[in-house]
Amino acid sequence: MSSSKTMEAKNPRLNQLFDDLVGTLRAFIRKHHITHEEFRRTVAHLNEAGATGEIPLMMDVFLEATVDRVDSEGRGGTETCVEGPFYVPGAPAMKSPCVLPHRANEPGEVLIFSGLVRSTDGAALPGAVVDIWQADAQGAYSHFNIPEADAPYNLRARVGTDQDGRFEVRTWVPASYEIPKAGPTGKLLAAMGRHAWRPAHIHLRITHENSQTLTTQIFLAGDPWIDSDVVGAVKGSLVVGLEKHDNPADLRKLGLVRPYYTLSYDFVLPRRMAKAA
Ligand code: DHB
Ligand code: FE
Repeated sequence: MSSSKTMEAKNPRLNQLFDDLVGTLRAFIRKHHITHEEFRRTVAHLNEAGATGEIPLMMDVFLEATVDRVDSEGRGGTETCVEGPFYVPGAPAMKSPCVLPHRANEPGEVLIFSGLVRSTDGAALPGAVVDIWQADAQGAYSHFNIPEADAPYNLRARVGTDQDGRFEVRTWVPASYEIPKAGPTGKLLAAMGRHAWRPAHIHLRITHENSQTLTTQIFLAGDPWIDSDVVGAVKGSLVVGLEKHDNPADLRKLGLVRPYYTLSYDFVLPRRMAKAA
């Protein structure tokens, strides 16, 4: 199949990718003897995904982990992970140490999440911005599963690292997350008899002026879905155990009455690549 329909050859990569994608899908149709009925059902499914606003979820669930692996090959530093569909730009800017925005009755266990941000050459990175977002203790994301008006930017913040490149936030232990089952993505999974769970995780997007942006996730060790993430995004180097603290003196110091957890991780960002002359 040639791409000779254009009046004038424009954007060679787009032409090449388009022809390869359509060619791959045509070969797939032949290989599996796709019927008209199956084709129409696929079109209806995609149309429903669009109409319900689930295109980002569907694309991220089935394809983003592969894009992430391909696009981060040879990168160095902390391993990247998918951004997913639940990032919201413009979260409140906060100075470390801080407590993430939360509701008066925020459910679950307190988690103190701390870390160092440094460069692959070893230098700590003061002034890095650690954009954090996560599900709550019931597996709900603000702006998506919790109405925005009820809890704007709940468990979301942009936290600046201190002069030593460190940050510390008080948050709540996230629960495993089940992607919405009522929409077309969830219905497709159910039709195949597959579960819709992601293991509990915290999202980070770390930026610094001299470094390459790091988009990643931290996964909580011991989660029942750690080996069967519906998105297929878990990387071993990003799985971290929580430490439980129930010593009464420690609790008193923090003004807590129930045990809390800590999690610490060092994030390593490659230097920004020199601009081509
Ligand atoms: C996806 C990623 C997430 O972090 C999440 O909570 C749900 C879905 C995704 O890539 O589809
Ligand atoms: Fe997520």
